[in-house]
Amino acid sequence: MYLDSKMNESIRKVEAAREANMKLDPRRMTAEEKENLLKTFHPDYREDQFVSLRIGPNKGEKVPTELAALLEGKSRMDGLTVDLTKPDYEADVLIIGGGGAGCSAAIEANENGASVLVVTKLRVGDANTMMAEGGIQAADKPNDSPAQHFLDAFGGGHFAAQKDLLYKLVTEAPEAIQWLSKLGVEFDKAPDGTMITTHGGGTSRKRMHAAKDYSGAEIMRTLRDEVLNRGIPVVDFTSAIELIKDENGRCAGAVLMNMETKELMVAKAKTVILATGGAGRLHYQGFPTSNHYGATADGLVLAYRAGARLLYPDTLQYHPTGAAFPAQIYGALVTEKVRSVGAMLVNANGEVFMNPLETRDVSAASIIRECTERGNGVATPEGYAVWLDTPMIEAKHGAGTIEKRIPAMMRMFAKHGIDIRKEPILVYPTLHYQNGGLKISANGQTDIENLYAAGEVVGGIHGRNRLMGNSLLDIIVFGRNAGKEASEKAKTVQVGELTLSHLSTYNTLRAEAGIDDDKMSPQLLPDYVRKENRGK
Ligand code: FUM
Repeated sequence: MYLDSKMNESIRKVEAAREANMKLDPRRMTAEEKENLLKTFHPDYREDQFVSLRIGPNKGEKVPTELAALLEGKSRMDGLTVDLTKPDYEADVLIIGGGGAGCSAAIEANENGASVLVVTKLRVGDANTMMAEGGIQAADKPNDSPAQHFLDAFGGGHFAAQKDLLYKLVTEAPEAIQWLSKLGVEFDKAPDGTMITTHGGGTSRKRMHAAKDYSGAEIMRTLRDEVLNRGIPVVDFTSAIELIKDENGRCAGAVLMNMETKELMVAKAKTVILATGGAGRLHYQGFPTSNHYGATADGLVLAYRAGARLLYPDTLQYHPTGAAFPAQIYGALVTEKVRSVGAMLVNANGEVFMNPLETRDVSAASIIRECTERGNGVATPEGYAVWLDTPMIEAKHGAGTIEKRIPAMMRMFAKHGIDIRKEPILVYPTLHYQNGGLKISANGQTDIENLYAAGEVVGGIHGRNRLMGNSLLDIIVFGRNAGKEASEKAKTVQVGELTLSHLSTYNTLRAEAGIDDDKMSPQLLPDYVRKENRGK
C-alpha cells in the first residue's frame, strides 16, 4: 500500500511493462563495462571516503574513514588497570563472539576435548548469522563441482581471493552441509529428499541451499542449541576490550568488560579465537545497514592494535537490495533469493536496466547509477530507489510461490501494509558485509601466534567481493577449522606471564604520529546519539 502518488504512478508503469519484462533475458555486462561501472558508481571507489592509516601493520594503506578512527583510536584501558596475575576466567580456548563462526568453533573445540569459554557482548546467537536469509552455497549436485564453485567465487571476487582459503571453503562445503544437517538444520528439500538449490548472483550452477528465506536463523538456532546442549560456558553481555599477550608475544587471553556494570575482568587462555563479525553498524558513508546491532568492527581493532595485519580493509559489500521503503525497515535485507526466484529490478519507468543476477558489487553500482546519473530512480523519503518487481514471481511460478519460498520477506512488508505478491517493493543498496578483515593462514591463525580468527572478521577468503551464500559457508568451514586448530594447539601451549605491553607500544606509535583525538575503541555499540546531544 503506497500512499505517495508519484510512487503509485510509477507502479502503474511497472505493471504495464511486467509481461514484456518477464520475457526479457537481459545480457550480462562485459568485463570492461563492469569495471567502468564500478569505478564510477561503487562506494568503494569514492576516494574522499577513505584515508591512509598512519600507524600499525597496514600503515599507508587506505581504509574507510570511520574504520581508521577506530583502528587508530584510544584504548578503553587508557587510565585503567587490571590484575593480570589473578584471572577471573581460565580456559584452553577463549572464543570472542557468539555468532555462527564462534559457535561452530566452540562445538569443534569442545569435541576435541578442550575447555572452552565463549564471551559475547550481546547474547549468544545475536549476530549477523541470525539475520542471513538467502542460503549457503555448496557444490554437492551431480552437475556441479568444488572446482566450478571456486571459479565462480574467484571471478566474482575480482581474482583477489587467497587461493588456499578459497580452496578450503569450496572443497569443505559439501561436508559443512552434511554437518549442519546432522546437527538438525532443516534445509529445503524436494519430496524425494534431495536438497532444493537455487542460483545466486554470479553462480554458474544452482548450489544455494536454504531454509526458505530464514536460512541464517535456522542455522544459528541449531548451532546455539548445540553449544548450550554441550554445556559449553557462555558469558553473555560481556565484551572483549583488549587482547592479552604473554611475555613471549603470543596471544593469551583478553580483558573483558561487563556491558552493564562496566566491571573489568581477565580471561586467560592458551589460544584465542576472534569471531566478532563485521562492521555494518559503522554505517560507512552514511549507508543504512542490514547488520545486527553489534557489528562495530571490534575484532579488527583488537587484533590490529596487537599487531595483526588486515587484508583488503578498503572493500565493503553494499547489498543491492536493502529495503528503501517504508522508513521503519530502511536498510533491512531483501534477500537476493527474491531475484533468484524470479523478481527483476526495474526503474521508475518500469524499464529493466540490468540482469538480475549480476554479482553484488555490479548490481549495487548499477542501481546507484540508475538513481543518480540516469535520473531513473523513484523518490522516497530517504532518497531514491528502484523497484524489485516481486509480483513477477507468482506470474512465473504460480500462486503460493512467494509464501512458500520467501515467507519472511512477505511478512516483513505485510507488517507495513505492502503485499509483495501484488505490489513491487522499493530497494536501494545497504551496507551488508566487510569483504576485508584479518589476514589468516589456512589453519585459521592470524599474524599473532595463538590468535585465530573466523567468520566476517577475516579478510581474503572472498577477495574483493563476496558471492551470496559464501558467508554462511565460511562461518561454518572456518569456524569449525579454527575450533579444531586452536584446541589442538592449546594442547602444546605453556602460557607465560601475561602482559598488556602492546598497548604502550601502540600509544607510542599514536603519539609519534601526532594522533591525539579521544575516540575510544573498540566501539562495541553503534553511535546513535543525535549529534546535538553528544557529550550530554
Ligand atoms: O541476499 C541474501 O540473502 C544474503 C546472503 C548473503 O549475504 O550471503
